[in-house]
Amino acid sequence: MKLTLYPDPILKKRAEVVTEFSAALARKIKVMYEIMDRSEGIGLAGPQAGWSARVFVTRIPEGQTSGPYRVYINPEIIEASGEAEGEEGCLSFPDIQGTIVRPDTVLIRAMDVEGQLFEESGTGLTARCWQHEIDHLDGILFISRMGLGDKLKNKAKLRALQKEFTPKRSTQTKTRRPAR
Ligand code: CO
Repeated sequence: MKLTLYPDPILKKRAEVVTEFSAALARKIKVMYEIMDRSEGIGLAGPQAGWSARVFVTRIPEGQTSGPYRVYINPEIIEASGEAEGEEGCLSFPDIQGTIVRPDTVLIRAMDVEGQLFEESGTGLTARCWQHEIDHLDGILFISRMGLGDKLKNKAKLRALQKEFTPKRSTQTKTRRPAR
């Protein structure tokens, strides 16, 4: 697993619901924590680690060397209120930032690594991060929520990312690979 960058097509796909709560799942989540740490992010969604699964991890508050780590599996926003404007970046979009308006307080329902349901209320940066990560699980990228000014401001950088991107061999040959 490694960090996927825009415009990798996995970032535009709706991620799959997690149904197996196994040691393999726990190992993948641990790798996500490592990728998030290495990239100095506060949140990372499955598709950003090349894994199309409804999982995201966080490390809030920021500015700490490691942790506190949290994982949210099959997450859903069940209540949202207020409205706040805030600056966002995304590990899959190096060097790109924009102002995005989102609800300020949300109630989230998710499963932990054992498949146990829990609910948690978050506000400010936490609520913003949860919404950004859940967007990833639905294939929604933060650039689509930016205002026109930010879209224009980031146009050249987005172009550069598109130019640098080389499709993976596996995605190109997938349909032709014989079953075995
Ligand atoms: Co992101």
